[in-house]
Amino acid sequence: METVPVPTPNFASATIWTGDNLPVMRGMNSACVDLIYLDPPFNSNRTYEAPIGSKAAGASFKDAWTLSDVDVYEHGELADRNPAAYAVIEAARQAHGKGMQSYLIFMAVRLLETQRILKPTGSIYLHCDPTASHYLKLLMDGIFGHGSFKNEIIWSYEKWTNTARYFQRNHDIILFYANGENNTFNKLYGELTDRQKTLLRVGYNLGSRKPLNKPIKIDHARCWVVMSEIYPLKRANRRQKWC
Ligand SMILES: C[S@@+](CC[C@H](N)C(=O)[O-])C[C@H]1O[C@@H](n2cnc3c(N)ncnc32)[C@H](O)[C@@H]1O
Repeated sequence: METVPVPTPNFASATIWTGDNLPVMRGMNSACVDLIYLDPPFNSNRTYEAPIGSKAAGASFKDAWTLSDVDVYEHGELADRNPAAYAVIEAARQAHGKGMQSYLIFMAVRLLETQRILKPTGSIYLHCDPTASHYLKLLMDGIFGHGSFKNEIIWSYEKWTNTARYFQRNHDIILFYANGENNTFNKLYGELTDRQKTLLRVGYNLGSRKPLNKPIKIDHARCWVVMSEIYPLKRANRRQKWC
């Protein structure tokens, strides 16, 4: 039987690089990374400066984009490498303008590299906010495949500003994609609330909210309930309606 060579990393574990991540990723072997978490610029149209007195004082980065900030040649290359990504960027230029187009070119060339260096069992979490999350999700669909989309995680926080004509904008978005059908996923388990314990005791399935065949022993239930089943339930509890 033919053996498929397992790609090996050409870098040491726990290495920290500083500087532009594009040449770093381009130097990495393919299919040798398990997990990627990206907290990139969000296209916020602001310049950020490190706090005075901090170790990074004096450093800043500009999160506002024009075509002169990106390699336009790479945009042309995208048309061949990933026509879907190219089309998304072109649509964003028409709908939103050249700033968004430039930002998405910056992101697309890097996302292509993340897809190449991830193992087939690997996952990627892309942190963004509503400024560009809708375009980034299309880019991710084009690069990783829409079937690889797993979750849109909402990170909500408190921030009260005076908004006259719209609701508070109080969340970031983390797009979770896998790089194949057999992605590694370690389930998160949480403690049961008293309400959930009662429901299990009287014989309700927390996920489907339908009666179970038989009540669950609470001692065993803690390991059985994953976080994703707890959060919708907490909302339902607040309404104090069901059961
Ligand atoms: C939204 S901030 C994330 C900040 C960071 N996660 C934190 O909590 O402090 C985006 C970061 O991306 C960095 N960045 C911008 N362009 C980059 C590039 N080409 N390669 C690597 N990092 C870059 C910026 O310097 C900035 O620190």
